[in-house]
Amino acid sequence: MIIAIDGPAASGKGTLGKRLAEHFGFAHLDTGLLYRAVARVLLDRNVPLEDREAAAEVARTLDVSHLDDSRLRGAAMGEAASMVSAYQPVRDALLAFQRQFGTRAPGAVLDGRDIGTVVCPDAEVKLFITAAPEERARRRHLELQSRGEQAEYEAILADIRRRDERDMNRSTAPLKPAEDALTLDTTHLDADAAFRAALDLVERKRSST
Ligand code: DC
Repeated sequence: MIIAIDGPAASGKGTLGKRLAEHFGFAHLDTGLLYRAVARVLLDRNVPLEDREAAAEVARTLDVSHLDDSRLRGAAMGEAASMVSAYQPVRDALLAFQRQFGTRAPGAVLDGRDIGTVVCPDAEVKLFITAAPEERARRRHLELQSRGEQAEYEAILADIRRRDERDMNRSTAPLKPAEDALTLDTTHLDADAAFRAALDLVERKRSST
């Protein structure tokens, strides 16, 4: 049983993925961390993010046991990840691990940009999580403030728009809902309401198949 969750940056898909996985006792993979980890290794080695060959090599040899590294979080690494994720060989190199993860028993939740379309096209349940860019920026702003980090709302909004633009318009595996995805707009929902709505969609889908 696979639950595929896709959506733009800061849409809340990660939190939903985690909560759904806990609810069902499934394994959870935030696939954005894989792209973030590739970018992190390049930056650590002082290799420019524009170096496609190096990025592909890093992706092919990535040690996936360090995805909980706190340095992978944050907007700067998200931006760097968005850059390397546009390279087809990088995506190809990360595919097998993601597909393998999807076979975990009793089930798996994967969240990202292309889970329902490319990684797990046969997933039993596909959710596409959206929210207005202004609302996503507001949430990210609050989150950063609560962690005591300096953050300016306008800069966060600009970052989110730039990332949406790149993730949706790249030629390889662009961010878009799978044809059979159920879309959940969380603009007017708080975290608990979003979780209940997502759970409801999953339950309904499961009982209809
Ligand atoms: O979900 P995130 O913010 O951690 O993702 C960081 C970047 O990685 C995102 O801007 C695009 C890329 N990404 C991707 O291309 N495909 C995925 N399945 C997950 C993330």
